[in-house]
Amino acid sequence: THVVSEACIRCKYTDCVDVCPVDCFREGPNMLVIDPDECIDCAVCIPECPVNAIYAEEDLPANQIAFIKINAELALADGWKSITKRKPALPDAEEWKDKTDKIGELVR
Ligand code: F3S
Repeated sequence: THVVSEACIRCKYTDCVDVCPVDCFREGPNMLVIDPDECIDCAVCIPECPVNAIYAEEDLPANQIAFIKINAELALADGWKSITKRKPALPDAEEWKDKTDKIGELVR
C-alpha cells in the first residue's frame, strides 16, 4: 500500500485525490490518509503532493513508520470520509508545510 505521512498534517493540499483511480483517500480534520484495503499501489499520487507526504510503504523513512498504522486505523475511523475531488488547502498550510514533528498536531 501507499501511506500518507506526517507532512500532510495541517496542510491537506488535496492534489493527491484528483489522480487516484480507486478513490482510496479518506479525509480527517487536518490530514488525509490512504485506505490500505483500496490502494492498488499505482503511485500516481506521489508526485502530486506539494509536500511529498506520500510514500510506498516500503520506502517510508524510518521516522514515519507509525503512519502505516495511522493510515490503516483512520481510514476506518468514524467521521473519516472518502474524498475524491480537490479542494482548497487548509488556511495555514503554507505556514505548516516545512515543519517537522507534527504528529502531535494530528486531529483524529
Ligand atoms: Fe496531504 Fe499532500 Fe494529499 S498534503 S492531502 S498528501 S496532496
